[in-house]
Amino acid sequence: MSGVTYDYMEHYLRELIPSNNGIIKDLEDFAIENRVPIVQKETAKFLELMITMNRPKRILELGTAIGYSAILMNIASGGLNEITTIERDEKMIEIAKSNIEKYGMQSKITILKGDCLEILENLNDEYDMIFMDAGKAHYNHFLPHCLRLLKKEGVLIADNVLFRGMVASKELATHRKITIIKRMKSYLELVSNNDDLITSVIPMGDGISVTVRKCPGMREEK
Ligand SMILES: C[S@@+](CC[C@H](N)C(=O)[O-])C[C@H]1O[C@@H](n2cnc3c(N)ncnc32)[C@H](O)[C@@H]1O
Repeated sequence: MSGVTYDYMEHYLRELIPSNNGIIKDLEDFAIENRVPIVQKETAKFLELMITMNRPKRILELGTAIGYSAILMNIASGGLNEITTIERDEKMIEIAKSNIEKYGMQSKITILKGDCLEILENLNDEYDMIFMDAGKAHYNHFLPHCLRLLKKEGVLIADNVLFRGMVASKELATHRKITIIKRMKSYLELVSNNDDLITSVIPMGDGISVTVRKCPGMREEK
């Protein structure tokens, strides 16, 4: 049970997505065998959609793991975008590096080693798209930096924002996860109640939020 949507809905939506092959399938198999958390199937498809729609040239990702989503996002752009991805786990970095090299994407995907918050504080480049997929208990702390680094027309996507349904339901919430739940709620409130932003939360996968800046004039018109 995902806790985010009905099981029958999740099952049906997943069945609609054709199975991958080649590089992406190999990475999925590795992730399953080695119990590495990667984006869910429908979230992967959503990222591909966003990249095809918006054609972001420069992407910042928080949370590389084995490089699955970074590689998928680069393939979705036809190899045209550049991705900077942050990871603190040395073992993951090693595996991601070897995957990136194996598929010849070294010039397209750069891994920054370290804690997301520390790295974000020191980044000054601008990005067309930011994908948050690390440090669920810190999305609210990452947000000011992500907004500073996001281009005017950029898109900020965050995964796991409903966290197995716990963010929306007291019945599903467990005591051990209370900090993540509180902080994730704070993140969703920040992106939902900021007059300059427009955010949509999608109950898909583990919950995805999509945030962009409002068009000029939109605030006044409301
Ligand atoms: C869910 S996985 C990322 C999956 C990846 N985006 C994918 O779908 O292929 C989250 C990763 O973030 C890393 N991580 C967690 N907290 C972090 C932090 N504060 N700074 C840097 N990396 C972090 C973990 O080591 C883990 O590899």
